[in-house]
Amino acid sequence: MKKLQLLGNITPAQFLRDYWHKKPLLIRQAIPGFKPLLSFAKLAELARQNYVESRLVTLRGGQWDMQHGPLTELPQRSEREWTMLVQGVNLHDQRADELLRQFRFVPDARLDDLMVSYASDGGGVGPHFDSYDVFLLQAQGKRRWRISAQQNLDLVEGLPLKILADFEAEEEFVLEPGDMLYLPPHYAHDGVAEGECMTYSIGFRSPSFQELGEAFLQFMADSIDLPGRYADPDLTLAKNPAEIPRDMLATVTEELNKVRWDEEDVTIFLGEYLSEPKHNVFFTGPAKPLTVGRFMETAAKKGLKLSSKTLMLYRGKSVFINGESFAVGRADKVVLDVLANERRIDGELLGSATDDVLEALYTWYQDGWVELG
Ligand code: SIN
Ligand code: CO
Repeated sequence: MKKLQLLGNITPAQFLRDYWHKKPLLIRQAIPGFKPLLSFAKLAELARQNYVESRLVTLRGGQWDMQHGPLTELPQRSEREWTMLVQGVNLHDQRADELLRQFRFVPDARLDDLMVSYASDGGGVGPHFDSYDVFLLQAQGKRRWRISAQQNLDLVEGLPLKILADFEAEEEFVLEPGDMLYLPPHYAHDGVAEGECMTYSIGFRSPSFQELGEAFLQFMADSIDLPGRYADPDLTLAKNPAEIPRDMLATVTEELNKVRWDEEDVTIFLGEYLSEPKHNVFFTGPAKPLTVGRFMETAAKKGLKLSSKTLMLYRGKSVFINGESFAVGRADKVVLDVLANERRIDGELLGSATDDVLEALYTWYQDGWVELG
């Protein structure tokens, strides 16, 4: 595989082998000449929306404070030591989406979102650690990062945000636009703006097993099949009426042990779970959708692409899109795998799709999941 400037001229395979989940990597000029993709005004406008997740972190008189969005009012930019953080910017900005997609050497199942932060001079979110891997790309101005492999991750109690009680920096770098710092999970860090700055965080998702287990049991609730009903033709006289009969317990245990799952169930669960859009994501279809005939003609010429908001995954014959799953035949699999991997498809290849898939594509177009062109 080709070396990537984005990774400091090592291959993605080398990066994964030597750094991913293991140790930090500072990459000077990962994206040479990088310019912010959206202005302060655009970012502040996103932070005002109730469908965008945002936070405002301030440090006033040595006191940390955090407010969740929508952020209708912001401090003056000339005021020191505040940060606005906007999550999921890739969902609302095409170029932010393209930036996030440069990190697809990590599978989509692990990629989360692009968070953009704006900090006034001296601003930051304090020394902390994250539970996820992150790439911190400096987009504008300078930020001084201090990082530490320290094992002591105790937090200051009673604060609205995670602040390490004893942070002792081991390394320190000032990042300029285009520079990028990769940090593995649980690596202590503190980034302080030197003058106004913007930092882009490419974040990953790693659901907890508890979260997966709870969601899996809900999924299984829809698919279990346990015919029959409890009966006790051999009931004997109870000595203690309030005591649950031993036989009843044994029968129910035996029945519940019939709940089984295999890799196929887990595949479908995981695909639906990971492709489910976040609760604040809304799709908007075209205001004046083309008729099915015109849609097919245009798609054959211009091709189709997935909306930035669409999550599409597959495994074997199962295809997952925005929380829905279905099984496809061999010919359709070729077409849909391309759409999922490339996030777009040429008109020519669409010619080999069956009517079922074309029909589904038209519905996805009406729903705003796929777009023409
Ligand atoms: C920031 O961009 O201000 C915070 C990013 C981080 O430390 O995770
Ligand atoms: Co962090």
